[in-house]
Amino acid sequence: MNIIIKNATMKDLRKVQELNLKLFEKEHKEYDSLLNLNWTFGEIGTKYYKDRISKDDGCVLVAITDNKIVGYLCGGLIKTQEYRNLPIVAELENTFVLNKFRSKDIGKKLYNKFIEWCKTKNVGKVKVEASAQNELAIKFYRNNNFKDYSLVLEADL
Ligand SMILES: CC(C)(COP(=O)(O)OP(=O)(O)OC[C@H]1O[C@@H](n2cnc3c(N)ncnc32)[C@H](O)[C@@H]1OP(=O)(O)O)[C@@H](O)C(=O)NCCC(=O)NCCS
Repeated sequence: MNIIIKNATMKDLRKVQELNLKLFEKEHKEYDSLLNLNWTFGEIGTKYYKDRISKDDGCVLVAITDNKIVGYLCGGLIKTQEYRNLPIVAELENTFVLNKFRSKDIGKKLYNKFIEWCKTKNVGKVKVEASAQNELAIKFYRNNNFKDYSLVLEADL
């Protein structure tokens, strides 16, 4: 399968949002019923993706096969925690590959391209957050060099 990874443009905005909504629907169903399914296409979500596509500190990549976008990755530079001595930090904020195209290295290709972008920005550390129950995604990240750093716990009152 011939896969092309390219930077998303504003023309791809809607498709990227559609894939993000699929990610939200999956996570909402499987791990987090508090996820706001109206965020992606709402004002804030739309601004987030427009900024990530168009601004210098953002990186949105799409994976294309047979002229069809089958996956995306969105990330960018983030504020560092002042209480740690950190280099420039980027976050892989969300990524999704359509079910039928998974386990064909598309996720890895998107990630590798993101790392190339990070290097152009002199990034020294990349972070990613995942739902604690999303074992497959965590496995994917661990296979791509991420090490466990912190665990966020929540209690309902
Ligand atoms: C995580 C994801 C982007 C990786 O993309 P991919 O194209 O499948 O990635 P690769 O082919 O490079 O790597 C495959 C590995 O990803 C992992 N993986 C993560 N989620 C998976 C899923 N839902 N289905 C299959 N494999 C998954 C597995 O470890 C798999 O390894 P295997 O093929 O040996 O089983 C993609 O699987 C996906 O969209 N998953 C659902 C959404 C998600 O969990 N996103 C991350 C949260 S932000």
